[in-house]
Amino acid sequence: MSKATNITWHDAAVTKNDRRASNGHGSCVLWFTGLSGSGKSTIANAVSSKLFQQGINEYVLDGDNIRHGLNQDLGFSDDDRTENIRRIGEVAKLFVDSGKIVTTAFISPFRTDRDHIRSLFEEGEFIEVFVECPIETCEVRDPKQLYAKARRGEIKDFTGIDSPYERPQHPEIIIQSHLLSVDEAVQKIFSKLRERFII
Ligand code: PPS
Repeated sequence: MSKATNITWHDAAVTKNDRRASNGHGSCVLWFTGLSGSGKSTIANAVSSKLFQQGINEYVLDGDNIRHGLNQDLGFSDDDRTENIRRIGEVAKLFVDSGKIVTTAFISPFRTDRDHIRSLFEEGEFIEVFVECPIETCEVRDPKQLYAKARRGEIKDFTGIDSPYERPQHPEIIIQSHLLSVDEAVQKIFSKLRERFII
């Protein structure tokens, strides 16, 4: 793939801060990370619903869904996961620029990839939410029967089985999804959004 040359950045007429002022709330990314079956999508969607009910501009980017479209050319090798996360990070940045609170629900297993995404954002805009859940619990839940398939060798490079998951070292929020209810998890995330004066 060759890189484009002769391209020039154009500053937009309407800025992120104009949109925030018009919306009456801030914008940020809530970057969920955790094992398959840890509860990322469930909690991200519960946060999104509550924000929506309060009239806040929000959007969810979800792993399985994005892989049906934008990232349908990518698989689960280390390089493909890195490219998956890189693209999502850029998309999330556009959403934050558009004045929304965007929640992303991707395993995002590699620390350097998540740290790269963090570096794209201004101070306070990137909120890493580690959905911590023992793999044994994820495997019992197994809502899509993927762990069972991975154990039978029918899926290769499955996170936590034969592909690594690197825990965040300093996430802004830790949700222990095996100990908290979805409502309690949502409360914890809303507290952080209030503490940062985003809502
Ligand atoms: S990653 O690692 O961030 O690029 O993965 P992501 O885009 O979040 O996609 C994870 C969902 O894809 C399904 N799936 C797999 N997950 C992990 N490893 C392998 N090999 C795999 N194959 C398919 C699975 O449904 C994941 O969804 P969640 O919601 O995490 O369970």
